[in-house]
Amino acid sequence: MINIRLEFRDDIKSLRDFFNESERYYVVYDSNVKQFISEIFSNDIPCFEIKSVEENKSIDTVMDICRWLISMEADRDVILVAFGGGITSDVTGFAASIYKRGVRYLNLPTTLLAQVDAAIGGKTGVNVDSFKNMVGTFKQPESTIICPVFLKTLPAKQILSGFAELLKTFIITSEENYNECVKSISSGLPVWEMTSLICKAAQAKADIVSKDEFDKDLRRVLNLGHTYGHAIEWYEHTNDVENPMTHGEAVAIGIIAAANESFARGYCDESFIDTLVSDFQKCGLPVKSPYPNGVLISAIRQDKKGMNGQLHMILPVGFEKIVID
Ligand code: GLY
Repeated sequence: MINIRLEFRDDIKSLRDFFNESERYYVVYDSNVKQFISEIFSNDIPCFEIKSVEENKSIDTVMDICRWLISMEADRDVILVAFGGGITSDVTGFAASIYKRGVRYLNLPTTLLAQVDAAIGGKTGVNVDSFKNMVGTFKQPESTIICPVFLKTLPAKQILSGFAELLKTFIITSEENYNECVKSISSGLPVWEMTSLICKAAQAKADIVSKDEFDKDLRRVLNLGHTYGHAIEWYEHTNDVENPMTHGEAVAIGIIAAANESFARGYCDESFIDTLVSDFQKCGLPVKSPYPNGVLISAIRQDKKGMNGQLHMILPVGFEKIVID
């Protein structure tokens, strides 16, 4: 068991106090959160801006961060801070795992998706051509600091994307939290007021990772919906689809696809699929792929979860019960 450290903060002011500690922080931030930089970090903390678009989730961006650290003469006792969404934590964590053979880093996630998933658990990675997360490392952050106040400035589409990962975590870990989450989302409660659900989802993910850091067994359940979801993202990317889905929207469709596969293999009841479909629709999430199944198969074959010619299907049997087939 490893200890995954999470910290929860209610306001931005307390972050300023946190980063006043006598550590040598180097901040990599997403251009979308530039407005918070001077509020949180004092002028003497070096900052490096990246643009968090999928094309920049690349080894080139990781190298740009390393070149910046070299130019700043950063030595091995610095702490990198990934301030932004999942792309920022992926490239910063990757850079932290290789710069001078490894330096410490901290995640300060600003999107819902990163606060409940991407910034927790130490998976770092970049895309290779159109294949997602093909190259990466495991590098645990010193801590992930979760401050839901950042979500006030998040576009609605990105919030929706995070809802899919929130629901995914609760399908896996808690029917009670899942129901509360569906109720909160469908009633229109602002996401930054869902602090307790965000904390519970983040903790649930941390608990799973602490038992299987290297994704050999239990942690794989967190990929629920991702095999099909990644295939949709790959298809949209390679076909230059206009207005592509967010990661969470693709995962939502992937969860329903996984439930259908589970039913076809005799693992779950049809009523479970109906519940998920109805709840996802209430939350504004898509449930059906607009693309023909056949075109997604080759992408699924490339999925990194396929090992020794076999693909691990993450199939829901019901709430809090997943099989890996
Ligand atoms: N996002 C899945 C994992 O961290 O394992």
